[in-house]
Amino acid sequence: MTEIIDRPAETVTIEPIAGYLGAEVAGVDLRYELDRATRRLLTDALYEHKVLFFRDQEIDHAAQIRFTGYFGPVTDAHPLGYTDKSPAGYPQVLEVDSRTYASRSGSRQYSYANHWHQDVTALVNPPAITVLRAELVPEVGGDTTWADLAAAYEGLPSSLQRFLEGLYAENRFGGREPRWVRGSESDAVTSATPIISEHPVVRVHPVTGKKLLYVNPGFTSRILGLRPAQSDTLLDLLFAEITDPAYTVRIRWTPNSIGIWDNRATIHQAPSDLGHLDVVRVLHRTTVEGDVPVGVDGRPSRSVSGEPFYARSA
Ligand SMILES: [Fe+2]
Repeated sequence: MTEIIDRPAETVTIEPIAGYLGAEVAGVDLRYELDRATRRLLTDALYEHKVLFFRDQEIDHAAQIRFTGYFGPVTDAHPLGYTDKSPAGYPQVLEVDSRTYASRSGSRQYSYANHWHQDVTALVNPPAITVLRAELVPEVGGDTTWADLAAAYEGLPSSLQRFLEGLYAENRFGGREPRWVRGSESDAVTSATPIISEHPVVRVHPVTGKKLLYVNPGFTSRILGLRPAQSDTLLDLLFAEITDPAYTVRIRWTPNSIGIWDNRATIHQAPSDLGHLDVVRVLHRTTVEGDVPVGVDGRPSRSVSGEPFYARSA
């Protein structure tokens, strides 16, 4: 698996699939190490299109970790140490396996978060990039949808943009209303290790410089400096904006497909159309270490509780 195929980058095609974000990539074989030109091209494409999809990539965990590493240092699976969800020898891989969820919760569940979210914005440095590889997916159903947080910001009236740029919001597991049951494993783990951070409501993307509407229903619990009712009303408005279908792309998984997304510039929604079907869905997630967000005023995010989540040093 160390063979380097000196594949000219111009053989790679990148085809946009929605108005704001999302592209399908062809002409890349992830079984082999990619040359520098192709890696550069894919990195640029990721920041441009925010979600890239690769089809028919029959690779293993090691190759997925190598691919993820092209975009930055690869972290362990999860800051709450869900190592029992990682395959043996690959602590970087988080298993998204409907069979595991079913045995834990006693009911059908196809993802640990069946609602709109960014990955782990409870952290002071949420993952920059996420990779998800499909192993077993149903013939129909189980699509993932992403939305473009820069487009959502740019779609706001300028008066509202200016107002939001001075605000910061608290992010914690579960957001305003944790969806898990009291006494469940999720309840126990998140209570035992509280991870809480304050992020700018408008974040400046460190690579593209774009302003992002940086809140999400999965983690954002309140806007600082507002009364609870005001915070809830404003969050309702912002959540409606960032989940406007106009800003989304919905992608169908196929076996051996790989999705990679900019976790700073997008939110995503796991499927909720499978509960009535008797199907299995198994995907493998890896993440790239993130930076600490910075607001328009240059102020960085602040950790209220919990440590930054770094990739382990080589
Ligand atoms: Fe996610």
